Amino acid sequence: MPATQEKKEVAKEHPSGDPRFKMIDRALKRCHYQQDSLIEVLHTAQETFGYLTEDLLIYVAQQLKLPPSWVYGVATFYHFFSMKPQGEHTCVVCLGTACYVKRAGEVVNLIKAEFSLEPGKTTADGQLSLVTARCVGSCGLAPVVVLDGTIVGKETPEQSLERVKKLVKSGSGSEAKLQEAKTS
Ligand code: FES
Repeated sequence: MPATQEKKEVAKEHPSGDPRFKMIDRALKRCHYQQDSLIEVLHTAQETFGYLTEDLLIYVAQQLKLPPSWVYGVATFYHFFSMKPQGEHTCVVCLGTACYVKRAGEVVNLIKAEFSLEPGKTTADGQLSLVTARCVGSCGLAPVVVLDGTIVGKETPEQSLERVKKLVKSGSGSEAKLQEAKTS
């Protein structure tokens, strides 16, 4: 394998082990790591994560060998990109096909009704942001909900709602509290 190609293979592994990065990797590969595919890759990132974070922008910048400031500028310039929501907690519900057939739409509806919250919005008290995404790369766990960055799956809509309620009740988004919501 040529050295440059080998370098690319190594670079695409994301240290977090988050399976969602694989979806971005696929988009990068599909576009042959062309810098002019930045918008397409950012679209995939947003569809996968529900929004763009600094971590994501840096990752994409590194992979496309673009200055992070440039990528940030593009992401904030176009209205169709959204940056991380402002809520204390973030709940991303995957509405990809595998999740949808496992009642992910009901998860969204229950959360909407419980918190009077539309996808893409944050509750008035700033506690919860609800976001939807399209395939987060963990279809085997459908229906998948990502709570404060942690993937949770294979639950009924009612169980998912309970988990979100517990997380919001726990107050600030510390890892310990997330774990508590996850295990109870
Ligand atoms: S469709 Fe939800 S993880 Fe793939």
